[in-house]
Amino acid sequence: MPADLTPADAFRHAPNAEGEPIRTFHPRRAALGERRTTALTDLFPRLGFSVHDPDLGLPPTTPDGLLDTVALFGRTAPVVLEIGSGMGDATATMAAADPGRDYLAVEAHLPGIANLLALVDDAGLTNVRVAHGDALDLVRRLVAESSLDAVHVYFPDPWPKARHHKRRIIAPAHVALLRSRLRLGGTLHCATDWAPYAEQMLEVVAADPGLTNPHEGYAPRPAHRPVTKFEQRGLDAGRPSHDVIATRTR
Ligand SMILES: C[S@@+](CC[C@H](N)C(=O)[O-])C[C@H]1O[C@@H](n2cnc3c(N)ncnc32)[C@H](O)[C@@H]1O
Repeated sequence: MPADLTPADAFRHAPNAEGEPIRTFHPRRAALGERRTTALTDLFPRLGFSVHDPDLGLPPTTPDGLLDTVALFGRTAPVVLEIGSGMGDATATMAAADPGRDYLAVEAHLPGIANLLALVDDAGLTNVRVAHGDALDLVRRLVAESSLDAVHVYFPDPWPKARHHKRRIIAPAHVALLRSRLRLGGTLHCATDWAPYAEQMLEVVAADPGLTNPHEGYAPRPAHRPVTKFEQRGLDAGRPSHDVIATRTR
C-alpha cells in the first residue's frame, strides 16, 4: 500500500468509466477503526491482492497471464470462489470446516476485506485469500476456464428498484461467465432473502444451457452455509432465505 495514503484512499474505486460493464456494487467509503486498519496494513500484503491496482499488489499469474492459484495458495487444491464475501464471517467459517479446499473471497467493500483478514489470521487459516475489487472483472480477465470447484454468491445486493435490476449479479450473462469458469460437475450456489430475486435466480439457472438444477426448485438449506448477521437480519424481518444450487453439466 502506498505509504503516504490512508487505506480508505489507497483502496478507493475509480468511477465506473464509460464503456465499462455496469457495476453490481455501490462503492462506499467507510471508517475502518484501528483493528481493521492494522489488519489491512499487516495482513493484506500476505493474504490479499487487488483485482485492478498494481500499487496494492496484483495476484500471481501463470505464463498465459491467468490467476495462478497454486502460487496464490501454495498448493494444488480445489478452489471455491466467494463473490461478495461481505464481512467474511461465512467465508471464514466454511473455510475452517473445509480445509481440503481453498477459498478465494472477493469483496469490493473495504471494511469487509479487513474484517475477513483479521478473522483468517485469528483462526490461523491457511486456505483463504482475499481479493479487493470487482469479482466479475477478476473472473473475466484472470480466472481460467473450467478451473473452479464452486462459486458462492450469498446474499448479493438485491437492487430492488426496477431501474437497478441491471446491476444484479445473478443475471444471464454473469451466470454464463461464472459457469464457464466452473469445472464440469462444479457448483454455483446462490442464496438470497429477497423473494423476487430468488425467483430470478431460479429462472436464470434454468435458462442457462450448461447448468443443471438437481433440486425441484429451491435447494434444501445446506448445513455448510452458516447464518451470517446479514441473513439473520432478513430472518428477523420475516424474510426466509432461499438457496439455488446448480451443477455445471456442459
Ligand atoms: C448484501 S452483501 C452480502 C455479504 C455476504 N455474502 C453475506 O452473506 O453476509 C453483498 C456484498 O457483495 C459485494 N459485491 C457486490 N458486487 C460485487 C462484485 N462485483 N465484486 C465484489 N463484491 C461485490 C458488496 O460490496 C456487498 O458487500
